[in-house]
Amino acid sequence: MISSTVQHKTALALSPFQSHSATTVSQWVKNPQQLRLLAPSSNFPLTSDGVRHWLKPGGKAFSLLETADAQPKTHRPIENLLGYGELNPMQANAQHVWIGHVIIDPARRAQGLGSALTNRLVHEAFISQRAERISLVVFPENTSAIRCYQKAGFTCVREELHRFGESTQQNRLYRFELLRTDYLAQTTPDPNQ
Ligand SMILES: CC(C)(COP(=O)(O)OP(=O)(O)OC[C@H]1O[C@@H](n2cnc3c(N)ncnc32)[C@H](O)[C@@H]1OP(=O)(O)O)[C@@H](O)C(=O)NCCC(=O)NCCS
Repeated sequence: MISSTVQHKTALALSPFQSHSATTVSQWVKNPQQLRLLAPSSNFPLTSDGVRHWLKPGGKAFSLLETADAQPKTHRPIENLLGYGELNPMQANAQHVWIGHVIIDPARRAQGLGSALTNRLVHEAFISQRAERISLVVFPENTSAIRCYQKAGFTCVREELHRFGESTQQNRLYRFELLRTDYLAQTTPDPNQ
């Protein structure tokens, strides 16, 4: 944790996810209702292995980190894990990327970090990976997630019915998409905006 008594200059960074942080991410999900919104195919309680199994072949998992200047005594930079998200290639087309499992530390929500993470994932997909299209699905009641995606430029293209795991229950989800051409036309490619 970053000390509250010493003033450090902090910044946000998107970084490859370190598998040893999977336990921390699993502990952010407090009940089955929260898990359904995030990962409807996973079983509660979420475990570190459950988090590690989210990623699809060819996909990349990322951490949103808060970084602070190196401490004078140790010369080690301080890094605080704030969020997690994935970019997975669609099976049919690797230029079509799927954003999955976006989550922010519950203690740090409603501070703009969900938007910051979404913006960085979009930048990574379009600028670093040169993807042509990004898709995602979200439950209609997940208003803060929908707001993050809309603010990043996504629009809802349709409603879909999905079944998860063994369940026969149909779930109504919104499918959101963003095209690289629209992203480049709308934004300067700066994820810090
Ligand atoms: C969804 C999630 C990532 C959003 O992260 P966050 O850091 O709280 O989001 P932000 O602070 O960037 O807020 C984004 C927008 O949502 C709004 N918002 C935040 N909390 C809200 C709430 N409880 N109800 C309604 N709107 C809310 C914010 O006001 C902001 O919109 P604005 O800029 O128009 O004011 C976070 O709530 C989370 O981890 N949820 C659990 C996992 C999950 O459901 N992931 C999404 C899977 S599709």
